[in-house]
Amino acid sequence: MNVLENWFCSTPFWRRTTEQRVLPWLLADVPLGDHILEIGAGAGAATPELLRRTPRVTSLEYDQALARKLVRHGGQRAGIVQGDAASLPFADASFSCALAILVLHHLKSSALQDRVFAEIHRVLRPGGIILAGEIPDGWFHRVIHFRSTFTPVQPASLAARLTSVGFRGVRMDSRSEGFRFYASRQP
Ligand SMILES: C[S@@+](CC[C@H](N)C(=O)[O-])C[C@H]1O[C@@H](n2cnc3c(N)ncnc32)[C@H](O)[C@@H]1O
Repeated sequence: MNVLENWFCSTPFWRRTTEQRVLPWLLADVPLGDHILEIGAGAGAATPELLRRTPRVTSLEYDQALARKLVRHGGQRAGIVQGDAASLPFADASFSCALAILVLHHLKSSALQDRVFAEIHRVLRPGGIILAGEIPDGWFHRVIHFRSTFTPVQPASLAARLTSVGFRGVRMDSRSEGFRFYASRQP
């Protein structure tokens, strides 16, 4: 991430926006179950609200400094793990839901995103849900990702990509700021 993203994702403004606007929309009608894997947790903007909604949260973060910050900022109630979403350090069938907020476009290629989808499928229990919130391609998002990674996820390709690693029932919806999608691992 660049300096701007690092700063923005750590602000109280983003935490409030996540709690009051992003999560109510993202999580609406999605059965979270009893153990969420939060992928790319950043500075933990979503973590407290996830902990309010479900008994157990494990937050994975690639960046070591952010993972340390997560622990300092009340992450004790969540399990904080430093690691890579493309090679998840968890046993098969561990989670009821895996959630990635603004993370997939930070993968360096769509092939790596597909590897993340396959890894999430592996660590979800049968019937478990993959849920993600993403931003669309466009000049504004390209500019704010200057000196960062921006591999936009193309919504039209998602159903085929998720189905090819074993997900079923792919659903997607969008609003002005972005789109969300979810699907389930076959029971
Ligand atoms: C734009 S931030 C979003 C953070 C958080 N989800 C939020 O909404 O505040 C993207 C996060 O994904 C993390 N990330 C990027 N690639 C990752 C990977 N391969 N595995 C785990 N986390 C990753 C970044 O370090 C960063 O914290």
